[in-house]
Amino acid sequence: MNNSQRLNRLGIGVFERNDQRKEKYKSFYLRKNKPPLLDLSLGSSDLLPPAIVIEEIKKSLSSPLSSSYSLHAATKPFREAVATWCTKRFGIEINPEKEVLLLVGSQEGTAHLPLAVLNSGDSGLIMDPSYPSHRGGLILADAHIEKLLLNADDRWKPNFDSLTNSKWDQLKMMIFGFPHNPTAQVGEQSWLEEAVNRGLKHDLVIAHDNPYLDLALEGEAPALLRCNGWRECGIEFFSFSKAWCMGGLRLGFAVGAEKLIKALKEIKGVIDFNQSLALQNGAITALNESLEWPNNILEIYRERRDRTINSFKEFGWEIPNSSMALYLWMPIPNWASNRGWSDEQFAINLLEETGVALTPGSGFGMGGKAWLRLALVRPVKQLEEAVSRIKPWWNANS
Ligand SMILES: Cc1ncc(COP(=O)(O)O)c(C=O)c1O
Repeated sequence: MNNSQRLNRLGIGVFERNDQRKEKYKSFYLRKNKPPLLDLSLGSSDLLPPAIVIEEIKKSLSSPLSSSYSLHAATKPFREAVATWCTKRFGIEINPEKEVLLLVGSQEGTAHLPLAVLNSGDSGLIMDPSYPSHRGGLILADAHIEKLLLNADDRWKPNFDSLTNSKWDQLKMMIFGFPHNPTAQVGEQSWLEEAVNRGLKHDLVIAHDNPYLDLALEGEAPALLRCNGWRECGIEFFSFSKAWCMGGLRLGFAVGAEKLIKALKEIKGVIDFNQSLALQNGAITALNESLEWPNNILEIYRERRDRTINSFKEFGWEIPNSSMALYLWMPIPNWASNRGWSDEQFAINLLEETGVALTPGSGFGMGGKAWLRLALVRPVKQLEEAVSRIKPWWNANS
């Protein structure tokens, strides 16, 4: 049996490659008396969700409805909670019947959307670097991929003029996303407004992947729902994974133009049913009763960011300040480039020598080449331990 061309084009994803290396470290390097694996490669929170959310899920699990299939009609209380949240969060009225959709996570939504709006060979635009499901979803839809290259000199600000007008005319959709993983930049509302203006002018769908909405450490996170015109061309993806620390529970939602919500719902209907009612009830509790929760965890991430950046600085690794929680975006040092190490090689050597796992930036696209992503998903003590393991390795090699 041969794999589909689509699957071959997809290739092995960055997180799978990380996984293989971490397994190799555990089965091979640990036997050579290396320190235990310290995994800072995945943006998966070590913090618990709000206790009332867990309680609600536990309570709801004993209802037979939670173990039954959940059809769209059963998600009505969830959709209504999202509409109420949108009013509180953005001061806008949303139609819960037509403008809201429950998702298995924002990754699922961004990956399935192209199947709903693109024909094979149509062009979709992603930022480079960007979260892997943006590229992956376009590949699953057999789409042509255009890239908007972000770069450090512009402080990762997208330059929409880098694409010609005729390129813009050929596009059918664009996947945007600030606060931005992996560059750890919050971005600006005006960038998103510009994206929506291009969407309206050139008749393309604007998908905004926004799982970090509540995790800006500096400034305010952009939101599509604050842009005029989203009801004509836009859809925004939100998540419970990051700000509510519920990544493993797989819950997200989309709010957007009626026709986009309907199209995505139809695609999803072929693939699966909705998340269990127990999980939906937990999510409703998060939206209704834990609105302030993300603010508390912001302070935890702020301390982790500041302490880790300062500790790296002490031995000469200068890391730009992240304006959002969860990640540091770190340039590979000159001594490593001078030795010809790519970001991938740097991450491999670092893991094998110190047991600290980071993600190579090029895994998010070639725009992330020569960068590394560190996820601040461990307590300060462990982050400082990671730095203290890296320091002697750095000194020995630089
Ligand atoms: C930009 C972006 N989108 C989506 C996801 C996945 O979110 P979810 O857990 O809601 O699928 C992530 C996770 O790291 C992300 O960084």
